[in-house]
Amino acid sequence: MKGQGHIIFLGAPGVGKGTQAKLLSNRLGLPHVSTGDMLRASVLAGTAMGRRAKAVMDSGALVGDEIILGIVRERLAEPDAARGVLFDGFPRTLAQAKALDEMVAGATVGIRAIVHLVLADEDIVERLSGRRVCAQCGAIYHVRFQPPTRAGICDRCGGELLQRDDDKPEVIRHRLEVYRRDTEPLIAYYAGRPGYREISAVGDSEAVSMRILEELGEAHG
Ligand code: AP5
Repeated sequence: MKGQGHIIFLGAPGVGKGTQAKLLSNRLGLPHVSTGDMLRASVLAGTAMGRRAKAVMDSGALVGDEIILGIVRERLAEPDAARGVLFDGFPRTLAQAKALDEMVAGATVGIRAIVHLVLADEDIVERLSGRRVCAQCGAIYHVRFQPPTRAGICDRCGGELLQRDDDKPEVIRHRLEVYRRDTEPLIAYYAGRPGYREISAVGDSEAVSMRILEELGEAHG
C-alpha cells in the first residue's frame, strides 16, 4: 500500500506543479486537487462564484481566502480524498496554510510532504508564455517542451488547445510579484517540518517526477 497523507506542491506559477500533480496522481494513488482548475471550472460553468473569480484571476491577483477554503473543505469531504490528496496551488497564503493545519488536526490523514519546486525566473517565464491548455480535459502542453502531435489539438481528447488569459506577459509579471509577496512566506512556514523537500524543477517532466518520487521514497513502488 502506498503512503497516505496530503502532499502539497509549492512553488512559483509555471514551475510545473500542475504537470507533476497530473503525472504523479495515478502513481501515488491520490487525487489531484488544483484550486486553479476548480476556479476555472466555476468560470466555465458561469456560476456566481466563477464570475467573481474570473476578474481576479485574469488580473493575476489571488482569490479571497474564504472562497478558497470553502472549496477545499468541500473537496476534502469527498470519498476519494480519504487517503489524502495532491494539492496544486493551495495553500497560497499564510492564512490558508494555517487553516489547512486546523483542518487536518485530529483528522485521520495529515500532511505527509511539502514538495517545493524551484526554478529560475527566466525559465518560469518561458514555461508560462509557451503553455497551452486543453479547453476540454485540462491537459497541459508547451509549444516547445511538450508539444501536441497536431498543433492546437489535444492528443488525449481532441479538444482545442488555448492560451490561458493569465499567461500574457504583463499578467505573468504580476503573478510572480504576488507569489513573492503572499506565497513565498510559506517556505519559512513549512521549512522546519520533516516532510518539507526542496526539489529542483530543472530538466524534463520525467526527470523532475523521478526526483520527486525518490524524495518521497516511492521511486521503486
Ligand atoms: P493556478 O492555476 O494555481 O496557477 P499558478 O499557481 O499560477 O500555477 P500555474 O498553473 O500557472 O503553473 P504550474 O506550476 O501548475 O505549471 P504547469 O505544470 O502548468 O492559479 C491561477 C489563478 O487562480 C491564481 O492566479 C489565482 O487568481 C487563483 N487561485 C488559484 N488557487 C488559489 C489559491 N489557493 N488562493 C487564491 N487564489 C488562487 O507548467 C507550466 C508550463 O511549463 C506548461 O506549458 C508545461 O507544459 C511546461 N512544463 C512543466 N514542466 C516542465 C518541464 N519539466 N520542462 C519543460 N516544460 C515544462
